[in-house]
Amino acid sequence: MPAKGSFSAKLSKIGLFPHDVKVERRLSDLRKYFYDKRAVESILSRGEDPLIYVVYEIGREREGELNVGCTIIYPGKIGDEYYFTKGHFHVKEAGEVYLGISGEGLILMQDRYGGVFTEEIRPETIVYVPPGLAHRSVNTGKNELIFLAIYPSDAGHDYETVDRIGFAKIVVERDGKPTLIDNPNYRGEIK
Ligand SMILES: [Fe+2]
Repeated sequence: MPAKGSFSAKLSKIGLFPHDVKVERRLSDLRKYFYDKRAVESILSRGEDPLIYVVYEIGREREGELNVGCTIIYPGKIGDEYYFTKGHFHVKEAGEVYLGISGEGLILMQDRYGGVFTEEIRPETIVYVPPGLAHRSVNTGKNELIFLAIYPSDAGHDYETVDRIGFAKIVVERDGKPTLIDNPNYRGEIK
């Protein structure tokens, strides 16, 4: 049993301890995704490599089962762009459900033609990501953004397409507020 009050105890409460997988993503893992390359290189050249997000997951393999993951995106920005997850399409036509636990942010959903939709994620909100849309989460708040994601165990993750074309929109701070703007580095088809 994890120690009372520990982070593992909190994960245990939502059924994620023990977990099978823990993935940590730092700035160096995401350097090509943030649009402000000068800001990225300036931080890394100082020997800093901030932790952007962590995913804890219970992975299952049989068709018909559901995988459950808990993501924590730390608060922060690179230049004026808020911390985010890498984002992916599913290999199969599979949807996903997000349940907000704490913090505040946005989920970006992008079709294969660069059309982007957003939904807010906050405590006790549910966001449905329909099949066929890439999805990326962004922490626009001052605290950790924590949410659960539930998806079919055989959905598969296609990171390669996002790696190649990026997201058409990004979330930056403008006049103190999170603002969706065109990504100057987007390399896909524009709708
Ligand atoms: Fe997904």
